[in-house]
Amino acid sequence: MNKASACAKTILFGEHAVVYGESAIAIPLSNLRTTAEIIPNGEEFRVVSENTGMDLPYRELEPGSGIRELLTKLKDIAAFNELPSDTLHIRSKIPIASGLGSGAALSIAIIRAFSSYYNLQLTNEKINEIAFEIEKIYHGSPSGIDNTTLTYEQPLIFSKTKGSTILPADMSKFHLLVIDSGIRSKTIDVVSDVRKNYDKYKTYIHEIGELTVSAIPALESGDSSLVGFLMNENQRLLQKINVSCVELDELLRAAQNAGVPGCKLTGAGRGGNFLVLAEDKTQALRVKKIYNELGLRVYYDHSA
Ligand code: MEV
Repeated sequence: MNKASACAKTILFGEHAVVYGESAIAIPLSNLRTTAEIIPNGEEFRVVSENTGMDLPYRELEPGSGIRELLTKLKDIAAFNELPSDTLHIRSKIPIASGLGSGAALSIAIIRAFSSYYNLQLTNEKINEIAFEIEKIYHGSPSGIDNTTLTYEQPLIFSKTKGSTILPADMSKFHLLVIDSGIRSKTIDVVSDVRKNYDKYKTYIHEIGELTVSAIPALESGDSSLVGFLMNENQRLLQKINVSCVELDELLRAAQNAGVPGCKLTGAGRGGNFLVLAEDKTQALRVKKIYNELGLRVYYDHSA
């Protein structure tokens, strides 16, 4: 196999607080994927990305960049003197800098493609560990929630200190829309602003952690009204730690006016994607139409 992929993720509860050891809940978005394919080219190793237009030999990749560091690590693990005469071809449906874990998905797709093509037999644990190292380059001080959710591709209750467990919930009971605000923001900047103000925000951060834990039974029992209420509360606390923005708050108002149980930003915030929980398919399709008419991209993966 010369091809592998990894999906996007979305955080239902607990972003930012998770960086400080609180629990967070994330789910994979299995239909939104990044694919990495290794194709022999008979020349030096190159990286081609359909989405960014990158087409560069390894030696011209920016030193210290995530992709260069990742390839260097894989080269060392495979004990290659030089990377082989191949092209790493990347394609992605995951928007970048938008809270869906595009960086972690890229790393994991590449690691898996390498592992299978060069027969490195990397375990999930090792894949997760390498992806986490690269996340540190992209995000500064990440919690590890993105790489862990995407490596295992399972809904997770994640904690830096307590580890992760599978969320005991059937997410197909929920009508969740993931909507791209179109505003790009860098996780590293938002996370570092929260860190600078940690003393001022620590009570809110702890409240986010408690709220996340209280969401677990609500998710388990499929209680959309309670999950929605908790999403709204989580959003209110995210506003307190200054990771929302005027434009996002305004976009969320459109869903609130449509009478949805809940909505919130997801991921680092200050733009990126946001979540809307609808009460049923009819309401979800109505909300989808509202945002499509505003020119926004809406991801709604519901077969029920
Ligand atoms: C990013 O997807 C989620 C944050 O909590 C950062 C992290 O956990 O690494 C904002």
